[in-house]
Amino acid sequence: MQHTGSRLDDVVLKLPLPVRRRVEAWADHVETLLSVHNPQVMARLGPAAFRGLFLRRGRRGPVAMPAHHSAWFDFDYPKDDPQLAALYEKAKRLQWNGSTDLPWQTSVDPLDPEVPLIEAGFLPWDLIEQHTGPLEARTRMGLRHKVTAWMLSQFLHGEQGALMASAQVTEATPSMDGKFYGATQVMDEARHVEVFQRYLETKLEHRYTINDNLYTIIDGLMTDGRWDMKFLGMQILVEGLALGAFGTLHKMTAEPLLKELLRRVIHDEARHVRYGILSLQRLYTHELSEAERREREDWAFEVVLLMRDRFLAHELYDEAFAHCMSRRTWNQIMNQAPGMQTFRQVMFQRLVPNLKAIGLLTPRVEAHYARVGLDRYFGLRSTDQLEDDALLAG
Ligand SMILES: [Fe+2]
Ligand SMILES: [Fe+2]
Repeated sequence: MQHTGSRLDDVVLKLPLPVRRRVEAWADHVETLLSVHNPQVMARLGPAAFRGLFLRRGRRGPVAMPAHHSAWFDFDYPKDDPQLAALYEKAKRLQWNGSTDLPWQTSVDPLDPEVPLIEAGFLPWDLIEQHTGPLEARTRMGLRHKVTAWMLSQFLHGEQGALMASAQVTEATPSMDGKFYGATQVMDEARHVEVFQRYLETKLEHRYTINDNLYTIIDGLMTDGRWDMKFLGMQILVEGLALGAFGTLHKMTAEPLLKELLRRVIHDEARHVRYGILSLQRLYTHELSEAERREREDWAFEVVLLMRDRFLAHELYDEAFAHCMSRRTWNQIMNQAPGMQTFRQVMFQRLVPNLKAIGLLTPRVEAHYARVGLDRYFGLRSTDQLEDDALLAG
């Protein structure tokens, strides 16, 4: 296959595998950092990126992330937001039990072609086989098992981030109705960690470490003291990414337990995004200064691009493909994978209208989004305007 950097690949491919993996990962991380064009955003993301990409903190066991926000108390107990109060009532009504409300007795065979975990077309086999040689049907099933385990592992790690972030947001939001609602989200996220962990452990029997880029985003949000940045990052961007990824997998899996698990989680996540929209709308459109809002607009745009371009299953590459192709080649293959393209499309269908709903798609940044081809999502309805079941459709 002809591609940019193929001569460099030839040199790199001659290095011993452990050295090559390290060198290529660093080169890839430098490229990630260079892809962030806004210096203010770079300065904000830099420390978390150093810890996530170069120190690889996410792969080294338990980690403590210092939080810098204030816990906000109000001893007058104001009823300050009827919409959040209504969302709180809805969330209480729709609680479910991860250990008894899912059909865990379902037997799952990841290699059964009759009940595939993920559609065959998720990966671009013709491109992969140019490097691996022809793959037998069972090997392909094995790789479909692994890529599903990779996605679900990242969901699991993202859910742990959401658990901590929702607890922080519950402390930090000044709204009392927001705190009540936030407490239900903490419970939701604990349940999501529970069910993804159980599915990976008992059904797929395979778990991958956290992706370095996902670690970086979570670290950046945990350690940012501004409550609205936690909302923006977790409730709008990471939850938008999650809705995209969950929706894609929900659509592409034939495995009934996983389908039902994802359906229930997606319904919960829709409330979480609504919480983010309701909490940020007024702040961003009426209360922040021009300079403060611009900072959020730029930050959101850069993080959207990182999420689009940098979740490329490197943990799967390290395990199954590093011996036969360079990381750069893998990136190109994954960027063209039909499954990843569907995922990006569903993610942006959710994310872009939500950014508009909270007032961060101003004419100034609309041009940036148009430049990278995201303007086709401008006219769609935001998550708070959609029925829950519409979120399953993708
Ligand atoms: Fe969640
Ligand atoms: Fe969530």
